[in-house]
Amino acid sequence: AFAEEPFRPAYHHTPPYGWMNDPNGMVREGDVYHLFYQHNPYGSRWENMSWGHAVSRNLLDWEELGVVLEPDSLGAVFSGCCVMDPQNTAGFGRNAMIALYTASGARQTQCLAYSTDRGRTFTRYDGNPVLTSDRPDFRDPKVFYHDRTGRWIMVIAAGQAMEIHSSANLRSWRFESRFGEEYGAHGGAWECPDLFELPVEGEPGQTRWVMLCSLGVEDGSRVQYFVGDFDGRNFTPEDDPDEVKWMDFGRDHYATVTWSGAPDGRRIALGWMSNWAYANEVPSVTFRGSNTLPRELGLRRVGGELLLTSVPAREAEKLLDEPFAVPAFAVETEHNVSPLPSGPAPAGRIELELEGGDAEVFGCKLFNCRGEYVDICFNRIEGTMLVDRSHSGRTDFSPAFAATRPVPFASGGRSRLTFWIDRSSIELFVDGGERVATNLIYPSEPYDRMNFYAKGGTLHVKKLEISPLHPYKQ
Ligand code: FRU
Repeated sequence: AFAEEPFRPAYHHTPPYGWMNDPNGMVREGDVYHLFYQHNPYGSRWENMSWGHAVSRNLLDWEELGVVLEPDSLGAVFSGCCVMDPQNTAGFGRNAMIALYTASGARQTQCLAYSTDRGRTFTRYDGNPVLTSDRPDFRDPKVFYHDRTGRWIMVIAAGQAMEIHSSANLRSWRFESRFGEEYGAHGGAWECPDLFELPVEGEPGQTRWVMLCSLGVEDGSRVQYFVGDFDGRNFTPEDDPDEVKWMDFGRDHYATVTWSGAPDGRRIALGWMSNWAYANEVPSVTFRGSNTLPRELGLRRVGGELLLTSVPAREAEKLLDEPFAVPAFAVETEHNVSPLPSGPAPAGRIELELEGGDAEVFGCKLFNCRGEYVDICFNRIEGTMLVDRSHSGRTDFSPAFAATRPVPFASGGRSRLTFWIDRSSIELFVDGGERVATNLIYPSEPYDRMNFYAKGGTLHVKKLEISPLHPYKQ
């Protein structure tokens, strides 16, 4: 059933060979999306950190262009960003693509490199580093042009907080403010910030600023976010300081940042689909590491609270063939849909609408002919949904892999679930992206069956629609 390299995704970006972690330098140039990434071109473990490079016109079909930045005397090439500089503020030309990245050597310093050939080759600025700090953890600069103040803004992780710096020319930077010590979740160093403005859905004229923050917590890597205001100097959150807002409730969503310069005001994010708790151990062979589907971000008011929503970018529709719909049915105890009506073609997307009615516990399993399964279980009493992958296939490579994170679930027993399934991942979008759970899986055969169950009441499956992967991706 699988191509000769098991677990190589059919439609998620992976490096052709070697290790990958964070997406870096995402920038749109002309009508091309550039994606750089943390890469070890020589092996499939974290080492020799360099920037790999891929380009795409549709965010799905990627052309690999090879390594653009390798370690130098200042250190390994850690995460960072790219911007276009059409006003030539930095003096490297109007068509220059400018990378700001962390050199991780004896210290972590911020460096600049520029490309005048559309990202194919980069030249390091001879005045590097452009920004230093006394803090040992000081990394992952993300830069954008702030129209209202007419300056470049950098948000950068510094210890367990984010710093904001400003610049007129991308080369000399001035400290503006520091955010985070008293807010949100803490654990390991904060990493991979992003800061951007989004409209509030259905509230014309209303916008908010969103800050993304990756960090290590007890069960590994996770991304939190803050909603608030940014005046060009300070980020002011409007959330309660003790509240934690998670961007994703799966185990494999990290280092998520957004494209610079996406058209039509779109805010498109990409995350690394893994977790530092076991990333170096996952059982893929010639490569390790894949990225999420590109996701379009929004802000939606739900029960008085502003939630960051993520849905697959609309480009992803082209991955799918015509859907098969199963008529609505009710489940008293158990019901199998086996095999799925899409036949042997692997499912690309499954859309489900569940109504738990009076059932206390209900859910569904995706399973294969070997009896390996992922269980999506709603518990009305606890108000949670669990994505349990402890029987999903290979789990033996790390004791940290099987654990799950509860997804809050408060929609009165009714839920819309959209699964995007690839050979080694399931991305689950709940209620139009209000909650997302991204998880890796390593089944020995694709899941081609489903089981629905209910305890203490009747589950109504109002919609079950399966879209197989389009033949061009199978
Ligand atoms: C996040 C991270 C970044 C760092 C990079 C190193 O996953 O730890 O903070 O720049 O990975 O590869």
